[in-house]
Amino acid sequence: MPIKTVIFDAYGTIYDVNAAARQVAAEPGQENFAAIWEEVSAHWRAKQLQYTWIRAITRRHVDFWRVTQDGLDWALEKTGQSDPELRERLLSLYYTLDAYPEVPGVLAGLGAAGYGVAILSNGAPEMLNAAADSAGISEFLDANLSVESVGIFKPDARVYDLVGARFETAPEEVLFVSSNGWDVTSAGAYGFRTVWVNRAGEPLDRLPDPPDHIAPDLADILQIASTL
Ligand code: LAC
Repeated sequence: MPIKTVIFDAYGTIYDVNAAARQVAAEPGQENFAAIWEEVSAHWRAKQLQYTWIRAITRRHVDFWRVTQDGLDWALEKTGQSDPELRERLLSLYYTLDAYPEVPGVLAGLGAAGYGVAILSNGAPEMLNAAADSAGISEFLDANLSVESVGIFKPDARVYDLVGARFETAPEEVLFVSSNGWDVTSAGAYGFRTVWVNRAGEPLDRLPDPPDHIAPDLADILQIASTL
């Protein structure tokens, strides 16, 4: 069945989750932070994601902004950082993360070719709207679908159900694109066709439902969608 709709994960796939810490590290007076920003950013992301999984399994949902703050607080304590201004600066930059450079052109090309185009993310609606606006990609998105409308994080199937509800597509008509291996395997188990965007050259996750395609970035998504 041909692909009708192309759905993107947000954080790590469309938006560069390391951009906030990288930017602070480059600011004047941040020499100490510059030495540890990669460690902070990696802990921040890892804890943020772990907290979403645990909260989904234990039914202890809070929104992704709260989980993002909790993950950062753990990362800052782990790396011995206690400056409240640093915390606020990182959070404020996370709200308006940079999109990867190929994103606007890829989204525009998919829309011009007639595909439905949307983000499906753990992000709270306000976060997703702010990030899309600041990255200049709102005009290319038919929807910014947030887990908040079902009150549970990925990979709960109710999150992936949001796509069919919005676009009236069968799962096999959807191409789901994510840089997160766990999100790809979960979307594949759900019945979506999948692309794993392996920007960092990571090994393939040892999980069922491997990706239909693996790509180094988003540049070839239109070509992949049209050949499925
Ligand atoms: C998201 C996280 C998983 O955008 O990156 O849903």
